[in-house]
Amino acid sequence: MSTKDKTMEKIVSLCKRRGFIYPSSEIYGGLNSCYDYGPLGSELKRSVKDFWWKSMTQTHTDIHGLDSAILMAPRIWEASGHLENFTDPLVDCKNCKSRFRQDHLNGATACPKCQGELTEARQFNLMFKTFMGPLEDAANTVYLRPETAQGIYVNYQNVMTTARAKLPFGIAQIGKAFRNEITPGNFTFRTREFEQMEMQYFVKPGEDDASMDRWKEIRRNWYDKLMINSEKLRFHEHQGNELAHYAKAAYDIEYEFPFGWSELEGVHNRTDFDLSRHQEYSGKNLQYFEESTKEKFIPYIIETSAGCDRSILCILCDAYSEEEERVVLRFAPFIAPVQVAILPLVKKDGLPDIMDNIANKLKKHYRVAKDVSGSIGKRYRRQDEIGTPFCITIDYESKDDNTVTIRHRDSMQQERISIDAIESYIEPALALPID
Ligand code: GAP
Repeated sequence: MSTKDKTMEKIVSLCKRRGFIYPSSEIYGGLNSCYDYGPLGSELKRSVKDFWWKSMTQTHTDIHGLDSAILMAPRIWEASGHLENFTDPLVDCKNCKSRFRQDHLNGATACPKCQGELTEARQFNLMFKTFMGPLEDAANTVYLRPETAQGIYVNYQNVMTTARAKLPFGIAQIGKAFRNEITPGNFTFRTREFEQMEMQYFVKPGEDDASMDRWKEIRRNWYDKLMINSEKLRFHEHQGNELAHYAKAAYDIEYEFPFGWSELEGVHNRTDFDLSRHQEYSGKNLQYFEESTKEKFIPYIIETSAGCDRSILCILCDAYSEEEERVVLRFAPFIAPVQVAILPLVKKDGLPDIMDNIANKLKKHYRVAKDVSGSIGKRYRRQDEIGTPFCITIDYESKDDNTVTIRHRDSMQQERISIDAIESYIEPALALPID
């Protein structure tokens, strides 16, 4: 096994052991490519979504939020082109029956596992189908959305009217999407159920290229704020038939995962494709009226489409570090699932009461854990392994002079500070980096 495979295996194992991510339906043997986020994972995920949401809607007063339904009118998927075009080329090995995406075979014509003969490629639609109501027939077929974007497009006029928005403006949404992937894998990287964080920015045609450049930069900087190693981030521009059926230009923000460079987020110029198609298929006029020039036109759309689960995986891989005596997750402190751990040296003599008092104060603003068991060294290691940026240790001196030791995860340095100064001490590191 290569070192990179081993690293991935260690991250998967840490995620399970410490309660970040579990295999779904585990007591029934699991369900292929489905995962559940445990106590620490769900906190981490919430923090990342909160950071994305605030980076979009709070930071930009021209971006409005939306939370649309997963099930939508099936005609939407005809209009969007997903029924016709949202397919991957599927090939089977006639010998070992393994199944592959032809475009992932790098031109190989035989089975990569057994060198057996492959079938001709068939186009396989990735949308999950189900039925609305008791009758399981074609007239009642509905789809689980394969992207959250379409919920935004069909609400573009609602949002524009109710928010009294004028171009340019954006709509942001976080939500589940479903794709019946042929080859899910690499832990949570490619799954069949996942969460997207998408923002669609509506602009006047002609202003799309400049807007695309602006959003590429904003989105790239977002990963810097998460303290992701910038040497492991790059743009990949889509060429020719890599471009989705709706896109004029597309850039992936890629991260160098232990399994190689792979897409984290797409920034796309979707032109007026989606709104024009919805105008055609719904029969509703979706044109924008510009009062100053009396022009009517369909806006262009710049889309930023990030995968929440992929962001989490990137954060975990980037934070993971093995050092001489410890494994440490070097999360950006503001997203750490536990931000402050409070550790009394002993479980008696009033030290736990001091812990409770500090915890009661801090928990109003921060994610706090209390840990009273094991040697202090072991407790530090436990907190390092889940990425807790600050450990506060209470000892006998604390009773006399109202001070504690504060230990930094990354440098392991310790400082003595007054209990009254804890909040102002940790606040700068834990504040959301939004401007
Ligand atoms: N609305 C545009 C769109 O959906 P996409 O490039 O197909 O574009 C956007 O997907 C993002 O969604 C990807 O960059 C990735 O982060 C995430 N994503 C897509 N498919 C995924 C899957 N099967 N598992 C996990 N995340 C996925």
